[in-house]
Amino acid sequence: GAPVEADTSNIAPGALVTVEWRGRPVWILHRTPEQIAALGGHDGELADPASRVRQQPAYTANPTRSLKPEFLVLTAICTHLGCIPSYRPEPGAADLGDDWPGGFYCPCHGSKFDLAGRVFQNVPAPSNMEVPPHSFRGAGKLLIG
Ligand code: FES
Repeated sequence: GAPVEADTSNIAPGALVTVEWRGRPVWILHRTPEQIAALGGHDGELADPASRVRQQPAYTANPTRSLKPEFLVLTAICTHLGCIPSYRPEPGAADLGDDWPGGFYCPCHGSKFDLAGRVFQNVPAPSNMEVPPHSFRGAGKLLIG
């Protein structure tokens, strides 16, 4: 399929937008500085903090799983059975625990992912969410695919 183009300049810090590529939903999350900083605090709770099970292009194999730390591009599909997780950015959400750093919660069977789509331990999902191929073309122009 053809690449999909998105304009990241219209996405406010902290906001998530969904586009469609090859019939699948893809999120673009504009992470705030606080959200980027929060990625570093819970490696010990993750199943695969360094994303050794490859779920991303080589160029996003870094701690933020992104080309630019402020923009996470993620296939919006739970790696368990394919539900669409919810964006749950609020740290310490009452239903997700005092230590919840913000991330994505799958309502189908309770899998939890951080704000880089990395899966927590002891949930049904077996692996981190996928980062699709993408590139930036000039200010604000993002190509997915
Ligand atoms: Fe997400 Fe089962 S499909 S936890």
